[in-house]
Amino acid sequence: MLTKLPGLIDVHVHLREPGATHKEDWDSGTAAALAGGFTTVLAMPNTNAAIVDGQTLGLSLGAAELKARCDYAQYLGGSSTNPKTALELSNKVAGLKLYLDQTYGDLKLDDMADWLPHFANWPKRAPLAVHAEGKTLAAAILLAAIYDRPVHLCHVSRREEILLIRTAKEKGLRVTCEVCPHHLFLSEDDILAIGRGRSEVRPRLATKADQDALWANLGVVDCFATDHAPHTLAEKDGNNPLPGFPGLETILPLLLTAVDEGRLTLTDVVTRLHDNPQRIFALPKQPTNYIEVDLDSSYEIHAKDQYTRCGWTPFEGWKVKGRVVRVVLRGKTAYEDGRVLAPPGCGKNIRNL
Ligand code: DOR
Ligand code: ZN
Ligand code: ZN
Repeated sequence: MLTKLPGLIDVHVHLREPGATHKEDWDSGTAAALAGGFTTVLAMPNTNAAIVDGQTLGLSLGAAELKARCDYAQYLGGSSTNPKTALELSNKVAGLKLYLDQTYGDLKLDDMADWLPHFANWPKRAPLAVHAEGKTLAAAILLAAIYDRPVHLCHVSRREEILLIRTAKEKGLRVTCEVCPHHLFLSEDDILAIGRGRSEVRPRLATKADQDALWANLGVVDCFATDHAPHTLAEKDGNNPLPGFPGLETILPLLLTAVDEGRLTLTDVVTRLHDNPQRIFALPKQPTNYIEVDLDSSYEIHAKDQYTRCGWTPFEGWKVKGRVVRVVLRGKTAYEDGRVLAPPGCGKNIRNL
């Protein structure tokens, strides 16, 4: 028997175009999204060039228009010089992304003074997402309070973070957060099995106690998001392993397996992969986007079966129960039985719908 769910929304993916299409591009990344049950993806701005103004936004959206197979929007990255430009582009983008801590790419805002105009100017109705860890995350929550505005906290991974977010929400602060599958299903205890280089990811894989704290505080978690961050095997296994895991094609089977084990309900999953992302990111309601899953189908995860261009997965060989059988995008079958049917270019920018 097949179960119908809404088309999933991933609010955090890295598609690598422009600049690193050997890792992923709008075509391969959105094919992977469909195979994973996603009908909408929000693309991060730490590409090469980074998406920080009208010209670079045009580069990404031009490629997306030609190549995307599912619906999408593109984030703008905040820089030390672009608060005014960002405001002008605010209706055209998924949201504004601020990198307050070090990660892949060159968008980190080193000087805290550069954060303030973004928090002050960016419209309160438009999503503001931050990469912040530990004490930087505490600073981001303080700014949400000072500017009385919504802030979305990306990829929460640690006990101290989720406990702080719980307290902030209890105080009525307008913070929301997402957790990634690799922080829910992996910890530093898995690093040897995955391999050191391949395990590099930001935020890092945390302790078992951190992992347990995420599960114990799921009520605080608004969204599940992949942080799909493809780097090739050569890049992961080389001397300077780049941080990031692919995730689009594995998140739903991992979560459905947790449903099968009684650790989550199906409603928990749909709330965090559709309802809350749609509301928090002010996305259009798209009732003609839906997916069909077989909750009884068991299989093993293998990189060779994936559409992502990166060629590996940290979940290689994992046994899962729950398979995406069909994905329907705006009324048309876009993926069925392992095959992506939607052609490049049929995806739409949801900010133009
Ligand atoms: O591990 C990560 N990789 N974390 C990030 O925040 C960025 C991402 C990437 O773009 O590779
Ligand atoms: Zn990040
Ligand atoms: Zn990311």
